Amino acid sequence: MRTLLELCGVFALAATAAGCVKGNPDLAIDAGFSAMGGMLAVADCGYSVTTYPGAEAPKLAVQRFGTDPTPRLVHLGLVGDPKTSVVAQWRTMDETTLASTVRLGVGANLPASALTDVRTGLEFAYLSTGGQSVRMHQAHLCGLTAGTSYSYQVGSIDLAGAEHFSPVYTFHTAPDIVAHPDAQVVLAFVGDSRGGYDVWQQLIAQLQQRTPDLVLFSGDAVTFGITQFEWEDFFQRAEPLFATVPMVSANGNHEDNAINYYSQIALPGDQQNFGLDYGFAHLTVGNDTPEDPTAITGAFHDAIAADFTASDAARWKLFMHHQPIFSASTKHGSSLTLQQAWQPMIDQHHIDLVLNGHDHDYEVSKPMVGNTVASGPDAATATVYVVAGGAGAELYPNGTQFWTQYSESTYSAAIIEVSRAALTLDAFHPDGSPIQTGFSKTKP
Ligand SMILES: [Fe+2]
Repeated sequence: MRTLLELCGVFALAATAAGCVKGNPDLAIDAGFSAMGGMLAVADCGYSVTTYPGAEAPKLAVQRFGTDPTPRLVHLGLVGDPKTSVVAQWRTMDETTLASTVRLGVGANLPASALTDVRTGLEFAYLSTGGQSVRMHQAHLCGLTAGTSYSYQVGSIDLAGAEHFSPVYTFHTAPDIVAHPDAQVVLAFVGDSRGGYDVWQQLIAQLQQRTPDLVLFSGDAVTFGITQFEWEDFFQRAEPLFATVPMVSANGNHEDNAINYYSQIALPGDQQNFGLDYGFAHLTVGNDTPEDPTAITGAFHDAIAADFTASDAARWKLFMHHQPIFSASTKHGSSLTLQQAWQPMIDQHHIDLVLNGHDHDYEVSKPMVGNTVASGPDAATATVYVVAGGAGAELYPNGTQFWTQYSESTYSAAIIEVSRAALTLDAFHPDGSPIQTGFSKTKP
């Protein structure tokens, strides 16, 4: 384990910010500072927050301020039940600011003066490229009411009484489908923005117009997971949407399990393989680029299978991971490794939609069971594979295979609508024009 002194020496950029200033005990950050990660129980939520090697242990925020406590890159995540919780996340460019406060109020578009529910968050720093120390703030907001809009802002009031808060944003919790069986939710589905943030920003604006409840990001937000400035472009361009709609992501090969990824995006469980219910959809997320490749057929396979089993009774089942199991693109194409390792359990549990990226095109498969196109009654329980890896990264050629329902080499994002009776997916180009072939399935 590195000591604080070692970190001060190695990570010169972080040294002053990390409190390595001799003679000023007020700046001598936490004696236990280490970048080995740690855990903090969040009592209100009934779960713990874990950080990983490369980051400090999470700590309850305290009233400590640096030169720029302004909250930046505000975005929402999910760790607990989306009906009753959300996670507000932001960073301060000034690494020494530890104060983390959320002001909350019930109702949409409230004035700041009406945000009377004040909650304290947690904070931790992680070490990025070149020793840059990035201070993250998280507020885990639990005990919320299902299907309800909330206004909030994040930030702090410094010791001189000056306020450093974000704009007021509005988010809403997931509906309670037992109380409201007519509930319909809208999921945004997009991936592979890396290096193409102008297109990313266009797609974000288009998605915002379609008022999604949840964003599903299938990986490859950045070219190099450890490169902080790319993450800041990614989050800054998306802030109008991400500050109002929680985002759930899968680790892509370009994230490469970097500490920047796990530190900036709060996710359920181990942040790699997990599931959550949102409306009538159950979403399972898998990491198909594990640090240990044998996990594909081992621990990660088993974790995904366990989530499939636990959610077998779900009305609609979605599975998101990064690398496509069926892709006709001539760039990467189908992952035969994942076909062998994961498709049998996808077939066994009759997953409705598999959501992938990695190939930078848009593709919808025919309903598949094994390596066969399903027809007749079998098609109703077969799985359709969608590749929508066109969020900004350079386009790849599409192709056509026997399983291809539709393919196009284009930038794209998709909207998935979920009700008790129907599951539909429709995609569009960055200018908003529709991509004609999507997906639609109904159940009595
Ligand atoms: Fe990829």
